[in-house]
Amino acid sequence: MRSALVGGLVAISSALGVAGSPHTHSVVTSDAYDYIVVGGGPSGIITAERLVEANKKVLLLERRYGPTVATGAIDTLVWNKNLTPIDVPGLSADIGSLPEWEEYICTDTAGYAACVLGGGVTVNYMVFVHPPDHDFNDKLYERNPGTILPSADGKRYDQGLYTVLSNFFNNIGWKAVNMISQPNEKHQVYSYPAWNVKDQKRAGPVRTYLPLAEKHNNFNLQLGSKVTRVLRSGSKATGVEVENASGHLQNIILAANGRVILSAGALSAPRILFNSGIGPQSQIEAAQKSGVIVPPKHDWISLPVGVVLKDHPIFSIVVKTNGTYGPLDWAGIYNGTETADISLYEKGNGVLTQGKHRLIWFSSNVVDGETRYYQGSCAPTGEDEVTITTYMTHGLTSSGVLGLDASGNTVYEKTPWMNTAGDQAAAKLFIQSLVDDLTAPSTGFQLETYTNVSSILGSLTSGMHYITTAKMGTDDGRHGNGTSVVDTNTKVYGMDNLYIVDGSIHPDLPTGNIQATIMVVAEAAVAKILAHHYCGLFMDRY
Ligand SMILES: Cc1cc2nc3c(=O)[nH]c(=O)nc-3n(C[C@H](O)[C@H](O)[C@H](O)COP(=O)(O)OP(=O)(O)OC[C@H]3O[C@@H](n4cnc5c(N)ncnc54)[C@H](O)[C@@H]3O)c2cc1C
Ligand SMILES: *[C@@H]1O[C@H](CO)[C@@H](O)[C@H](O)[C@H]1NC(C)=O
Ligand SMILES: *[C@@H]1O[C@H](CO)[C@@H](O)[C@H](O)[C@H]1NC(C)=O
Ligand SMILES: *[C@@H]1O[C@H](CO)[C@@H](O)[C@H](O)[C@H]1NC(C)=O
Ligand SMILES: *[C@@H]1O[C@H](CO)[C@@H](O)[C@H](O)[C@H]1NC(C)=O
Ligand SMILES: *[C@@H]1O[C@H](CO)[C@@H](O)[C@H](O)[C@H]1NC(C)=O
Repeated sequence: MRSALVGGLVAISSALGVAGSPHTHSVVTSDAYDYIVVGGGPSGIITAERLVEANKKVLLLERRYGPTVATGAIDTLVWNKNLTPIDVPGLSADIGSLPEWEEYICTDTAGYAACVLGGGVTVNYMVFVHPPDHDFNDKLYERNPGTILPSADGKRYDQGLYTVLSNFFNNIGWKAVNMISQPNEKHQVYSYPAWNVKDQKRAGPVRTYLPLAEKHNNFNLQLGSKVTRVLRSGSKATGVEVENASGHLQNIILAANGRVILSAGALSAPRILFNSGIGPQSQIEAAQKSGVIVPPKHDWISLPVGVVLKDHPIFSIVVKTNGTYGPLDWAGIYNGTETADISLYEKGNGVLTQGKHRLIWFSSNVVDGETRYYQGSCAPTGEDEVTITTYMTHGLTSSGVLGLDASGNTVYEKTPWMNTAGDQAAAKLFIQSLVDDLTAPSTGFQLETYTNVSSILGSLTSGMHYITTAKMGTDDGRHGNGTSVVDTNTKVYGMDNLYIVDGSIHPDLPTGNIQATIMVVAEAAVAKILAHHYCGLFMDRY
């Protein structure tokens, strides 16, 4: 049996050490939470749901709001009052021009991250790459499997691009695979794209986990609540400080043996750590300058938070081919005039059940004994024109540094892309050989926009797959040359009951788009946290 609720809502003055204007007062909430999970992205929702299933009393705090009708969104489609544009797979291709984009993208992080319930999975292009490593458990896939064939009628739509490119790859000796059932095939292969789609809608934990948590009365979700810092008594987290949309502060207190789990994402979790006196001294000092009340200096924990930031770089290869295909009429789908596609979709079928891409390939090369992997996500961007979004993935050696500025934004102190000679040489070699194949006279193809290898290399943009800012490992970062911020139970070194579960803890980049790996790792991490008891400090009461 669980113990009775204690506490309630107690308004107090600013005596709790909360910054002055514009924050007028704070409220202390003490509701005997076993776990406070910070951040309602994929990692946070999965983590919270599994804790709820284990009978823990859980509070999930999300700084922004819900993107679906079930989670409170009111910006539904003109042609369907039960769906928002975020739900429709076919609209994800043009997501950057939806009004929701501006509202859902964080304005205080170094690179692109989403500030909305569901995190990046709410705004992303839904590419769902099952990690090729069979060490991982596959509990995720029971609930959120991904699909390469989303239309209810079992048909694929708009296959012109696939026809042209699959011919091309067959001609250069690459082989067709199913990227879901053959996740270990990652060299000179191509597949129909795997999408994070279920029942013809954008899937992800908002749809596949959150409703399960909401069935239990030990689950509490608080939206519009940005956590600024973890409240500490030395090495013990006692709660969190939360700021609402109008700048009011609230202190939420944990149960005596409770735990805090940060799931704010690789570009935001570090800010909460810095604000809580955890990280390099210079970053904690920046947090202090930004107006946050950091703990007294003797409580600062020196850990290499933000010292390594990794991401997949993207190179864009734009090719004019000789097929007959083109992009969808997104504006017409959005405003309801593309009635043919819309009425098919309302029956569960058609091109709108599919994401943006039409073919995804994987390959690798070896330079100086190091294998680097590549992924190409191919989508139509004009009439007979394909853009191949080419990522360098697992095996790359570049990294950057994430810091904090005096306004409280996370910033690049060093960008994470292409800053090693090995990565530069490997990318050049790989792009050169692909360009040679694409532009061989027999293909009839022509490069557009970036018409030679050096301009393709110069098209570098972020893959938006940020990780490693609070790395997991056994080499405790407080000592010597230790590089790790959390241990293999995902607990922050030097803290008794503070954990991190999100992209931050991943030591290395996966071999493709990252969201499936993020979710698989969240499942594994929460299992470890639940199994992790330590003497005297945490007595499981159930
Ligand atoms: C535009 C875009 C496109 C992408 N495309 C793909 C793709 O096609 N395929 C793929 O596999 N991956 C893609 N990704 C990457 C993928 O979505 C992310 O890697 C993944 O969402 C990271 O999950 P996370 O749980 O670590 O953090 P996030 O998804 O960043 O979630 C963090 C959550 O915490 C909340 N939060 C942050 N700070 C606080 C705070 N202080 N207090 C309370 N809440 C807070 C945020 O609002 C958010 O809900 C894309 C990402 C972006 C941004
Ligand atoms: C923030 O909290 C204050 C105090 O509880 C409340 O008056 C205000 O309406 C809240 N703002 C929002 C946007 O919820
Ligand atoms: C494109 O050109 C190639 C080579 O000339 C040819 O084999 C192929 O059939 C053409 N495809 C289309 C769709 O015309
Ligand atoms: C809908 O979008 C299409 C673009 O495809 C445009 O031509 C049309 O004018 C728009 N109609 C309305 C009613 O907004
Ligand atoms: C590559 O293309 C760019 C512009 O597209 C041009 O400025 C540059 O000179 C070209 N480089 C080579 C090596 O051809
Ligand atoms: C840390 O690294 C330096 C340089 O590589 C080395 O000289 C030193 O012995 C290392 N210290 C520890 C504690 O491992």
